Amino acid sequence: MRPTPPPQTYRVKSFGCQMNVYDGERMAELLATQGIRPAADGEDADLVVLNTCHIREKAAEKVYSDIGRLRREDGSAPLIAVAGCVAQAEGEEIMARAPAVSMVVGPQAYHRLPEMIEQAALGQRSVDTDMPAQTKFDVLPARRKVGPNAFLTVQEGCDKFCTYCVVPYTRGAEISRSFNDLVEEARSLVEAGAREITLLGQNVNAWRDDSNRGLEKLVEELAAIPGLARIRYTTSHPNDMTEGLIEAHRDIPQLMPFLHLPVQAGNDRVLKAMNRSHTVDSYLRIIDRVRAARPDIALSGDFIVGFPGETDAEFEDTLKLVERVGYAQCFSFKYSPRPGTPAADMEDQVPMAVMDERLQRLQAALSASQLAFNQASVGKRCTVLVERKGKLPGQWLGKSPWLQSVHFTADAAIGDLVEVELVEAGPNSLSGRLVSAISG
Ligand code: 5AD
Ligand code: SF4
Repeated sequence: MRPTPPPQTYRVKSFGCQMNVYDGERMAELLATQGIRPAADGEDADLVVLNTCHIREKAAEKVYSDIGRLRREDGSAPLIAVAGCVAQAEGEEIMARAPAVSMVVGPQAYHRLPEMIEQAALGQRSVDTDMPAQTKFDVLPARRKVGPNAFLTVQEGCDKFCTYCVVPYTRGAEISRSFNDLVEEARSLVEAGAREITLLGQNVNAWRDDSNRGLEKLVEELAAIPGLARIRYTTSHPNDMTEGLIEAHRDIPQLMPFLHLPVQAGNDRVLKAMNRSHTVDSYLRIIDRVRAARPDIALSGDFIVGFPGETDAEFEDTLKLVERVGYAQCFSFKYSPRPGTPAADMEDQVPMAVMDERLQRLQAALSASQLAFNQASVGKRCTVLVERKGKLPGQWLGKSPWLQSVHFTADAAIGDLVEVELVEAGPNSLSGRLVSAISG
């Protein structure tokens, strides 16, 4: 690689989950402290960070085609850094296959970007996929300006080893950040404008500190921060759903009545083959306890159709589970073999046409469930945290406590918390009528 002048502008493109969005924000803040500014809309950036996701589909192929398309208007190429989970999984291979890439940096090492950029400007390429425990959080700059909804990564990695999932390999073992660091970061997020904080982790409810305090203790502490109106957390594993956390849904008003608790499938043989370590029944018992603590809670989940060996009858069990739970919203995916995971080598991979048909049926059932949940909300009064302007003049969009999109027309501003009455429901959103502005 030839030496290039140090970059003046950057663009971070994040794909995949909310943890990647959080990492993307922190990388952007780090680059800003180096005197590199975000490229304006339509402006070519000197440095492009592709913050990649490896969870499904042809993630790596997509990265190579994205790299190919990064030429600038004058024909030159920007400095390219590949970050995120594809970087972690395929570091050296990316270097070998994509000469245009100067830096490959894993999710636990991106605090080293400034040094890597200096090397890149000298014409040297570098790969860093180390997983030093926690150090990125110790050295990243403090949070600055954020919108009303902020993410806060509290836990990373996974020790569960579900047989389809690549996360234990890309994000490493479960690590919890310290209580004090998190409270401090939450405070700085609120000072920077956040009114709602979503705590993030691949197994967020497995968060535990050195004194064995669980997530509910952290939520309790954050709820005392003046100005922080709402707390959410995602993604949880059924086995880590403790009584303390369930009670927090009853006792802490700032903890929103929403729980994303993936089940993946509705059949015990499939769950066992997935190494999920819970059954349909134990999952349903958790749901019952959560509902007893917080009757209005909105439930969400993730589903995989077409796991190797899944029969028609086993898939029907998933539909039955959907019917029983009454989800407020869900994500559903076709099984995708991830290199290096046990399920990728299993016999009886399900044909794509069968997966397509199952996904369609599942999504129809989930949409019906979501619409029913929204319709049942009509007539309720609730708070809405205003996130952005709507399409119509004077219209605003925000979220209800149950994470529904709500639009209403009134005098408001982003970050306001208003009270509305929900008057009409669609499959993906509701309309509300302003009752009162609570705070601006
Ligand atoms: N194939 C399809 N979906 C997957 N997920 C994770 N790994 C795979 C895979 N190999 C889904 C799960 C998980 C969500 C984040 O992505 O449903 O909960
Ligand atoms: Fe994708 Fe998983 Fe990495 Fe998130 S942690 S970016 S979902 S592979």
